[in-house]
Amino acid sequence: MRGRWTAVAAVALSGLLLATGCGGGDDGGGGGGKADTSVEVFSWWTGPGEADGLAAMKADFEKKNPGIKFNNAAIAGGSGTQAKAVLASRLQNRQPPDSFQGHAGAELLDYIKAGQIEPLDSFYDDNGLRQVYPQQLLDQISYQGHIYSVPVNIHRSNVLWYSPSVLKEAGVSGAPKTIAEFITALKAVKDKTGKVPLSLGAQWTSDHLLENVLLGDLGTDGYNALWKPGADWSGPQVTKALQDFAEILKYTTFEAASTDWQGAAKAVVDGKAAFNIMGDWAYGYFVGAAPNGLGKKADTDFKWAASPGTEGTYMWLSDSFTLPKGAPHRTAAVAWLKTAASKEGQDLFNPKKGSIPARKDGDKSLYTGYLSDALEQWQSPTIKLAGSFWHGVTANNKLHTDIDTAVGLFLQDKDVAKLQSALVTAAKNDIQ
Ligand code: GAL
Repeated sequence: MRGRWTAVAAVALSGLLLATGCGGGDDGGGGGGKADTSVEVFSWWTGPGEADGLAAMKADFEKKNPGIKFNNAAIAGGSGTQAKAVLASRLQNRQPPDSFQGHAGAELLDYIKAGQIEPLDSFYDDNGLRQVYPQQLLDQISYQGHIYSVPVNIHRSNVLWYSPSVLKEAGVSGAPKTIAEFITALKAVKDKTGKVPLSLGAQWTSDHLLENVLLGDLGTDGYNALWKPGADWSGPQVTKALQDFAEILKYTTFEAASTDWQGAAKAVVDGKAAFNIMGDWAYGYFVGAAPNGLGKKADTDFKWAASPGTEGTYMWLSDSFTLPKGAPHRTAAVAWLKTAASKEGQDLFNPKKGSIPARKDGDKSLYTGYLSDALEQWQSPTIKLAGSFWHGVTANNKLHTDIDTAVGLFLQDKDVAKLQSALVTAAKNDIQ
């Protein structure tokens, strides 16, 4: 089982021992002794869908910690496009927030290797957490035998959302099962309806599409091999996948970048676009109550399937929270992590966020519609796993940026050979 996850290599940071509960922070920023009266939590959950999940966990935190004000330091930009740059500079300048969001896997490893976050072994022991998470997930947040973050959820990145009414109009009988079928369906939508075949949003949603096309064309093993040391991006199968990526892009319409992923996802449930490939945070947005959510009906206003060619594989990612070294309000940060780790906190957060709990013991009855499907598949013994590169599992921050730069250029020049050669170079330089 472990081999199906991207192993996070383990190298310990010496001398960083968590002393849970003996925080030295106070809100004057100076002398110790005073209790923390605030906690600054950093994420990128500002938009509809995402912000509602965070608000639910915040409310739970404030109920349990009446003396601590939750200072929401979220920075807009889906998938952390702006937030990660701000975070990097704050960490560089040794002005960390009290806790920040980091994806399990390679992204987290960057922060660990840079010595920016504390191990949480004692926190896990004190709160009896080692048993409540799947071992494979613990492997993704561990380094040299130490655990470094608190996962709140599991998201799925390979979801095809579609409009049943637009597919009907186009004479497409159901969700396409392969990339070739997908391209045929996109063409039918273009030829037979005036609708957008595939909606896209801000640039990062093209990176997200790319990981889905790579998985759909290369299969799970081929995709997973792309992120391992010595990975070969120069082969004909990658060329074919990139050609398909180029072809699929011909059928896309970019919604305003300012509406990020939400604008593109909304086009599907409004019946303006046939398809959107997006992570399941879109589900929280679709079914969430107004004014933030769209209040749509699953299976009626929209349907879903695994993205073309990826049936039976869960391309996963996990949002987790950290304890930065030098967190100004360390005791309050530990209290926040307690909420994030709790069954109650996760069960309040995830149904709104469109994710399933990272813990194994979530209350199943709360996960309905798409989410009950997701839970079932995640727990199925036959499901295969692939780590999302865009959302931090298999690509470190450098590789992530280098691929994004290559994709950005490609969106301008559509030169497949140039894209492939940039990806070959990025993989050589950035995968250790
Ligand atoms: C992902 C993150 C999700 C969701 C998404 C869109 O990177 O893990 O929780 O926020 O970006 O912003």
